[in-house]
Amino acid sequence: MKYAKNILETIGQTPMVKLNKLTEELPCLVLSKYETFNPGNSVKDRMAVQMVEDAEAAGLLQPGGTIIEGTSGNTGMGLALAAVVKGYKMICVISDKQSKEKIDILKAVGSEVYVCPTDVTPDDPRSYYSTARRLSTEIPNSWYVNQYDNLSNTKAHFLSTGPEIWEQTEGKVTHFVVGVGTGGTISGVGGFLKSKNPKVKVWGVDTYGSVFKKYHETGIFDESEIYPYITEGIGEDILPKNVNFELIDGFTKVTDKDAAVYTQRLAKEEGMFLGNSAGAAIKGVLQLKEHFSKEDVVVVLFHDHGSRYVGKIYNDEWMKEQGFID
Ligand SMILES: Cc1ncc(COP(=O)(O)O)c(C=O)c1O
Repeated sequence: MKYAKNILETIGQTPMVKLNKLTEELPCLVLSKYETFNPGNSVKDRMAVQMVEDAEAAGLLQPGGTIIEGTSGNTGMGLALAAVVKGYKMICVISDKQSKEKIDILKAVGSEVYVCPTDVTPDDPRSYYSTARRLSTEIPNSWYVNQYDNLSNTKAHFLSTGPEIWEQTEGKVTHFVVGVGTGGTISGVGGFLKSKNPKVKVWGVDTYGSVFKKYHETGIFDESEIYPYITEGIGEDILPKNVNFELIDGFTKVTDKDAAVYTQRLAKEEGMFLGNSAGAAIKGVLQLKEHFSKEDVVVVLFHDHGSRYVGKIYNDEWMKEQGFID
């Protein structure tokens, strides 16, 4: 009989799917690493399990313990699955910008959820970063994951996502384009692909309101770049340790409107029902058009599933309220 011993064993080995209509204007082959096939419907399952297993090995997470994380939802989902299978309690601390669906989903898999204000600085005691840290000092036998600075995040992608992309493209990948939040995906995949072929170009997709692009280009952490934005999952107002700026060749910024409109277009024109950062990622690929030639094989990674955005991106009333569609 062929079966997985538990749901965590089904993580990874996701398909690679060609983009057709949306990328017609590009000269090259564009393939998407389609991460919604993971059991938690996002790429984050990979790093969640890696972080938990590395914490267990290091003795940071003890039997019966509580996992605490500040998460926009997907990492929380992956951690919650790991917590259920391995017998831990799970607390997710989330910002109020995140969709209601994400919060309900976390509760559905047994997580306790704290909602914090988005529009405060990271060191404000009300921020979700500070709240997660505080809870981990108050709750006995708890472990604060910190996906931003926990390098097991990058390691997961170096060990699984990167090698899968290399094998699926038979080593022909020339460019990797991906949205950047904690940086784990870009640094792990980018690091692996460059270790196989240093000529592979690695591009990050950033948002307006985030510090990454300017920091990469100038080395300046410019606080005036920071303001609230709508796109979920990518961009930051901090510099996470998981973003390895040295192996990133460049960033392109995508507007909230374009990210939302292109998320809808992926569903309607490619049959790809995906999350908000996928729209940003594919628009980022189109913005980088001048960097691609006929022989290139561009891989773009799609992080999560559309079901988490039915109240927002896939709700035309919401799209109109934001001024994204007429
Ligand atoms: C939907 C979505 N897209 C993109 C990202 C960014 O990925 P990474 O944190 O690996 O940079 C995240 C991270 O939370 C996410 O949830």
